[in-house]
Amino acid sequence: MKTLHLSGYTPDDIGVVVAARLLHDGAIVAIPTETVYGLAANAFDGKAIKAVFEAKGRPQDNPLIVHISSMDYLSELVTEVPDDAVKLAEAFWPGPLTMVLPKSDLLPDIVSAGLETVAVRMPSNEVARAVIEQSGCPLAAPSANLSGSPSPTTAEHVVEDLDGRVDAILMSEPCEVGVESTVILLANGQKRLLRPGGITLEMLESVIGHVDLDKAVLSDEVTAKVSSPGMKYKHYSPKTNVVLVCGDTDKFADFVNSSEQDTVAVCFSEDADKLSCEKIIYGIASDELTLAHGIFDALRSVDKLNKCVAYVHAPSKQGVGLAVYNRLLRAAAFDVIQL
Ligand code: TXA
Ligand code: MG
Repeated sequence: MKTLHLSGYTPDDIGVVVAARLLHDGAIVAIPTETVYGLAANAFDGKAIKAVFEAKGRPQDNPLIVHISSMDYLSELVTEVPDDAVKLAEAFWPGPLTMVLPKSDLLPDIVSAGLETVAVRMPSNEVARAVIEQSGCPLAAPSANLSGSPSPTTAEHVVEDLDGRVDAILMSEPCEVGVESTVILLANGQKRLLRPGGITLEMLESVIGHVDLDKAVLSDEVTAKVSSPGMKYKHYSPKTNVVLVCGDTDKFADFVNSSEQDTVAVCFSEDADKLSCEKIIYGIASDELTLAHGIFDALRSVDKLNKCVAYVHAPSKQGVGLAVYNRLLRAAAFDVIQL
């Protein structure tokens, strides 16, 4: 398949019009969002959605997020909008928050992998919103990477993974947030954080009170029926063996410098001077937003160095750090060293 490369740096770019038309007509198109790039299809077109699963090599039991550009779409997607969902939408939409709500029968089952709920989000990225608006349909979109590989935060990452496998890629700026949206379950009276992201647990709780933390967020407990199917797969992984290392700068540096393997350190800028091996800096330890922004690009860069092992310095679990830690746990297949 020849993949069209369209230009979508502003909502007025002609590429936006073309991408919207293609999506309206049943094509699959990668588009930018503020979190990561998404691989979009008309949420009501079962055939297009099947093509999305195939292009990514995604297991069919892992449901997709439906993206909307206004609250008007909600009535055809969900059967109920609980009060807490209204409050969270007022506080954080448009933005990096996905809410899992009771699903309407109008949506094809393949979108939500047969579950009785559907995940919905209103992105803040203006190009994404323009594409949704002009296509006239809600867009189901998983991250635009090959299943299992690090999520794409630049148009080049999407090209690396999906060129030749999708109808078009809307090339745009690097994603602002850099980790995928926060996913919260709000069906059947539950308030449960399924995946941490740009909207932090603390921010959610400031609006709707206590939110449970799903046990899959920080553990590798794989139950037969996990609440968020996406959390059970090995994820975000480079081909190089990744190990997550917890400890302060001096301990991390001593550990990595004494490694006898061919090593790359994925570290904070604060660590750089103390490391004697090859290093990739993914952000500033004291500023979790920079870590979120840099982590997936760093994980992709690891493979280009052909090392035996990548030791990644673990971030704090505060704020957006929790999302970064959650992704790194999976990239490391839960191989964690506490110094
Ligand atoms: O930021 C994002 O959310 C990006 C951009 C493109 O919007 N999308 C994204 O999609 O990360 P994806 O498919 O890579 O991740 C969707 C996550 C998975 O962990 C999936 O299991 C969960 O959302 N999910 C979707 N529908 C669900 C449902 N009905 N119940 C529980 N979890 C659900
Ligand atoms: Mg994904």
